[in-house]
Amino acid sequence: MLDKLLLDEPVLFGRDDQGKVFALRDICPHRGMPLSCGSFDGREVECCYHGWRFNGEGACTAIPALTGHENIDPGNIKVRSYPVRESQGGIWIFMEDPKVKVIELPPLPVVPDIGGAEKPAICEVMHFPCHIDHAVAGLMDPAHGPFVHTSWWWRSRGSIHEKAKPFGPSHFGFTMLRHRPSSNSFAYKLLGGVPETEISFQLPGVRIEHTRTGKNVVCNLTCVTPINENETEITHLIYTNIGWLKLFAPIVKIFARRFLNQDKSVVVKQQGGLKYEQNLMLIRDADTQARWYMQLKNEFARAQAEDRAFNNPVKETVLRWRS
Ligand code: FES
Ligand SMILES: [Fe+2]
Repeated sequence: MLDKLLLDEPVLFGRDDQGKVFALRDICPHRGMPLSCGSFDGREVECCYHGWRFNGEGACTAIPALTGHENIDPGNIKVRSYPVRESQGGIWIFMEDPKVKVIELPPLPVVPDIGGAEKPAICEVMHFPCHIDHAVAGLMDPAHGPFVHTSWWWRSRGSIHEKAKPFGPSHFGFTMLRHRPSSNSFAYKLLGGVPETEISFQLPGVRIEHTRTGKNVVCNLTCVTPINENETEITHLIYTNIGWLKLFAPIVKIFARRFLNQDKSVVVKQQGGLKYEQNLMLIRDADTQARWYMQLKNEFARAQAEDRAFNNPVKETVLRWRS
C-alpha cells in the first residue's frame, strides 16, 4: 500500500492479489483513522483501530464488533474510491469534484511509438513548493532555458537565437508540431543523426516530448500533479528503445534530476516574490503557451458548468521567440 496526498486529499493506493490497482480515500469512515495505518492481505484493507475491513471498491465487508442484533449492514458503509487506470508503467487516478458533473474526461495520455519500451527506463519525482499553475507555466515556458538550464551538456547562455515553431490544437491541449529541434542542444547530438521532435501538452498537466532519429526514439512524459494549493509533484518519465540509454539509465537519471532541480530552484526563488505580487504578465509569443494553458483550463471548467462539450480555444499558428 502507498499513501499520498493529492488535491489536498489523503489517498491510499494498493494492488490486490489479482494485480488490480485501487485507490481509496485514506480515512476510515468510522472514526477517521488513516487506513494506511492498518494492514492489507491482498484483498481487503483492515483499519488498525477497530478492525473494520474494506475491499478495493471501498465497500465495508466486516465490522468485528457487531453481534448480529444491531441491524447494521456493513455493505452500506463505504469509503470513497477513485477510478484508477494503469498504463505504460504509470498509475493514473481521476479525482472528480463530486459537485461537478463531468461529461467528458480527458483521455489517458499515451506515449506514442515506443516500440517495445512499455515501461519507462527512468522515473524521477520531485516536489515544487508552488501552485500547479506556476509549475505548468514553467514547464511550457520556452524562454527560461538560456537563463535557468545553462549546463555544458545542454546549452550555454550565448546560444540564444530566434526560433519559429508551428503549433496546433490537439486533444485537450496543443502541440508543437513535428520539427527539427534546436541545434544548440548537446544532448540531442548524442542521439546521432538529425532528430525530429513533437511536443504536446494536455490538461490537466501532461507534457509529452517525442524525439525520433531514424528508429531511435526517446520520449519524455512529464506529469504535473497538484498535492495542495502550495505544493506540486512533478513526475518525469523517460521511455526509450535505445539499448545504451537504458543501460546508462542511472547516469541519465542524475542529469534529469539536475535539470529538474534547476527548474525547482527558480520556482523556490519566484515564491519569494509571489508572496507580495500575484499579478503575472504573459507576453506574446514567448508566454503564449502559458496563456493557452489558462484558456484551456477556463474552457474546461466552463464546458463542465454549462454541460456542453469542450471547445479547444487554441488555433493553428506559428510562435516566435528568442531562446
Ligand atoms: S476508526 Fe477505523 S475501524 Fe474504527
Ligand atoms: Fe525548465
